[in-house]
Amino acid sequence: MMEITGSTRLYGIVADPVSQVKTPQTMRKVFDKRGTDGVLVPMHVAPENLPVFVQALRGVLNFGGMIATVPHKTAMVDLCDDITPAARLVGAVNIVRRNADGSLSGDILDGQGFVGGLRQSGIEPKGLHVLLCGAGGAAKAIAFALADAGVARLDLFNRTQSKAQEIITRLQTVYPTVPMAAVGANPAGYDLVVNATSLGMHPDDAMPLDISGLSPSQTVAEIIMTPAWTPLLLAAQAKGCRIQFGLPMLECQIELMADFMGVAK
Ligand SMILES: NC(=O)c1ccc[n+]([C@@H]2O[C@H](COP(=O)([O-])OP(=O)(O)OC[C@H]3O[C@@H](n4cnc5c(N)ncnc54)[C@H](OP(=O)(O)O)[C@@H]3O)[C@@H](O)[C@H]2O)c1
Repeated sequence: MMEITGSTRLYGIVADPVSQVKTPQTMRKVFDKRGTDGVLVPMHVAPENLPVFVQALRGVLNFGGMIATVPHKTAMVDLCDDITPAARLVGAVNIVRRNADGSLSGDILDGQGFVGGLRQSGIEPKGLHVLLCGAGGAAKAIAFALADAGVARLDLFNRTQSKAQEIITRLQTVYPTVPMAAVGANPAGYDLVVNATSLGMHPDDAMPLDISGLSPSQTVAEIIMTPAWTPLLLAAQAKGCRIQFGLPMLECQIELMADFMGVAK
């Protein structure tokens, strides 16, 4: 177990509430693997105090960066000095790096984590026809990353269809050659079907899509981590589909977050 000393570099996860987060333990493993003299601590900050908190961190010389999670991802966009095109498009930041001059750079890694998780499982999104369910924060980031990964078609289904259409309109300014449409709940004909809604977290949730359209040639991916086996994944497995759990998206992100904060490999 690493000892915290005067030269230990400081990292954080800022949230409200914060006691539920698992990132301090997960990042500990990454730091240990990389031989990093660092510690990532939970930082419980209410939304009204976020600007003054972030401003103070600019002056903390041994601060490397922080993960931002609920409810701070959107507010962090305007509190960083520069953010990546993905974060700009998604309108959210979930990782912040403190640069040597005290400036703060932000990115959103949800989408890259999802695509990285697929690739770790041997699923290459390039060239696939994809149905993405959802149009919330996670779905937006995943839509961007899938378009960036070169999918052949990206259709979105969401309860509030206008939100799906809004993502498509924004995405098409960056990826004009990828065909996209706001569609209905039928997953038939897609290579990859992704649930990026919050449906499936609770036992009495409805299915996020019409499972009668699933067939064995398809891959069905979840981003919900608890439960691991959502009703959608159980139904997909029963239909003979290949399945992808929600956890790899987070596991891949942790490594990417460490990279973004400048933690040496
Ligand atoms: N694996 C990971 O690393 C990871 C990372 C981030 C998030 N997640 C998980 O992803 C899920 C979504 O997170 P988020 O941040 O995107 O949430 P969010 O911004 O609140 O979006 C929720 C989405 O679910 C839809 N939805 C919610 N209740 C619904 C209902 N009763 N019927 C139909 N659609 C419904 C919403 O549709 P409307 O637009 O119509 O409201 C929206 O598309 C959560 O379960 C979260 O835990 C996992």
